Amino acid sequence: MLCSTPAATSRAGVRVGVAELGRTKLPSCNEALKMGFKLIAKTLVYEYARLGDRPGSDSEWDEGWRIADSELVESAFRGDPERERRFRQFLDARYNGLILIRNGRWLAYGWCSNPRGPGPTHLPRWTGALGGYWIFSCHTQARFRGRGIYKQLLARFTTSLSQDTSSSKIFIDTHAENIPSRRAILASGFRPCGVFSTYRVWAPLAGSRVVGGRWRTEETHPNLITSAADSSVARVSDGMSRRSLTGQVAERISMDDL
Ligand SMILES: CC(C)(COP(=O)(O)OP(=O)(O)OC[C@H]1O[C@@H](n2cnc3c(N)ncnc32)[C@H](O)[C@@H]1OP(=O)(O)O)[C@@H](O)C(=O)NCCC(=O)NCCS
Repeated sequence: MLCSTPAATSRAGVRVGVAELGRTKLPSCNEALKMGFKLIAKTLVYEYARLGDRPGSDSEWDEGWRIADSELVESAFRGDPERERRFRQFLDARYNGLILIRNGRWLAYGWCSNPRGPGPTHLPRWTGALGGYWIFSCHTQARFRGRGIYKQLLARFTTSLSQDTSSSKIFIDTHAENIPSRRAILASGFRPCGVFSTYRVWAPLAGSRVVGGRWRTEETHPNLITSAADSSVARVSDGMSRRSLTGQVAERISMDDL
């Protein structure tokens, strides 16, 4: 079953669900070369289908979740200037953030864009005009992984966003190689909704910048490895040796960008 195309949710008349989706004019090859190295990130998109098993309310993490504000960002990420700066920008953009705190330290976090605001930072700007929520930039500290924290984060977001009476859709995307993320997303009631290709250019000093993208809403997702034997392979691939799905272009985008 295909996901419903976001065209239905589009308030800006953006045509989606067809091959060419980007509104941003892509630079020519020469322009891209002048600007720096061109990168393509392919991510699998999921739409929330309200089918998930919600983690019970007796989870050991129930008490620690906080809504991000500037005071919390400052206290939780003191000593981590890169995250603190990034999350201040997220707050300025009016993204919603959830941070799991224990003994004053952060264990996990995740962010979500609003239907009436800019889209997530790792995707082209036009995604903001699609009128949906987009969950992104999620992270669980390595030593706390595999204990259901990410699934709880997703359950908190979907429970709260589902109360939005505008019935805006809820999306999330992740790399094909990110097995823990894909498993948690599927277990949380999301269903596959195509593949996003994001184009970036990278230049020394300037870093990387999103210049456009395309969302093929009908493209199927590669199989998810689920057997115990395969999970050791998954563990290796979770070690972030990543290629784009086509294998054509080296991908250098951090998982944390999503
Ligand atoms: C992806 C990430 C957020 C998952 O966080 P988490 O708190 O460990 O996730 P959960 O425990 O809720 O769920 C993980 C799921 O993957 C499974 N899993 C965990 N580690 C795994 C591994 N190495 N191989 C295969 N499956 C694994 C868990 O069993 C669980 O699946 P299940 O519901 O079928 O049991 C965490 O790995 C992370 O921060 N990674 C780096 C940043 C990142 O990738 N962010 C996500 C971008 S979308």
